[in-house]
Amino acid sequence: MEGAIIDRNNLTKIYNGKVKAVIDLNLSIKEGEIYGLAGPNGAGKTTTINMLITRISPTGGKATVGGFDITKNSMQVRKLIGVVPQDFTADEDLTGRENLTMVSQFYDVPKAKAQENIKTLLKLVDLEEAADRLVRTYSGGMRKRLELIIGLVHEPKILFLDEPTLGLDVQTRTQMWNYVKEIQSRLNVTIILTSHYLEEIDELAARVSIIDHGKVLITGSPAQLKESLKGDIISVTLTDQKSVETMKTIQGVVEVTDAGSNTVRIKVVSADNDLPKIINFISQHGLSTTRLTVQKPTLDEVFLEYTGKTIREAEGGEDARKMAMNMRRARQ
Ligand SMILES: Nc1ncnc2c1ncn2[C@@H]1O[C@H](COP(=O)(O)OP(=O)(O)O)[C@@H](O)[C@H]1O
Ligand SMILES: [Mg+2]
Repeated sequence: MEGAIIDRNNLTKIYNGKVKAVIDLNLSIKEGEIYGLAGPNGAGKTTTINMLITRISPTGGKATVGGFDITKNSMQVRKLIGVVPQDFTADEDLTGRENLTMVSQFYDVPKAKAQENIKTLLKLVDLEEAADRLVRTYSGGMRKRLELIIGLVHEPKILFLDEPTLGLDVQTRTQMWNYVKEIQSRLNVTIILTSHYLEEIDELAARVSIIDHGKVLITGSPAQLKESLKGDIISVTLTDQKSVETMKTIQGVVEVTDAGSNTVRIKVVSADNDLPKIINFISQHGLSTTRLTVQKPTLDEVFLEYTGKTIREAEGGEDARKMAMNMRRARQ
């Protein structure tokens, strides 16, 4: 792709000659964007990242990062990138600032420049006050924020975030999203983010590739992927069953179903375009409504559509299967 900062061509990784972790991956990532790799555990996200950051070598295909070939020019690639791995890397027995300084030294950042960068970064993620405390005293969220800026001390052009909010509670996760957005806009870095939380990808990524079993299933902006389902749901609750029967005769929608309790579920291509039609129908037929709701599909539903299972099911577990069943029922 023209102007791509990361370009991959049939990138493949087969571990030990048998585990097909990534198969013929083709993706292009533009400079300055946040690009999401979404998929359940074991989909091949970390393997993809590890190839792009030159930690492991591909068994097939090619990729360039910032114009450099990941196999032939791995040293140049490493200078351009920052990496925040899935697992913690910071030394718990050092302070936050000491960790940052150590990594700066590793990258040969001149001392004065390093101090300046560290100050800016600590401020960016609200860790100034905790900077001189031992990392072992940090909360989970603070640690993740520290990891985030450890990946940035040498001013990389491209930042890889592998599951940046794994294990954080919902509230801390949402805070982390704001820090990631702030970093992207202030420092103007390209960010490649993996996550198995689809709402996280939806919130952060300009474009996303959904991967499962080492293959890209679909790529697009979160909005495009959701629109591709042609499945907004408008639920209308009426005052009596007779009105329900009338409502069911509406034309020009994808599907109308009786959801019980005087409610009809109307599936439409786009609620934004089709809602006026429904409201006109209600008024023309003199129906009275007690409730009207619009539900747009989420990326979870996109995943379900393209894989035939929910992301939680893909990760296994009894709860996951129950939730999946409920979700299917709700969309029927
Ligand atoms: N070092 C390895 N050796 C053998 N198999 C591996 C290795 N690392 C990962 N795998 C396997 O490759 C697949 C993809 O794993 P991974 O890239 O870690 O997925 P994700 O990050 O999406 O959870 C899984 O089946 C995993 O068990
Ligand atoms: Mg992983």
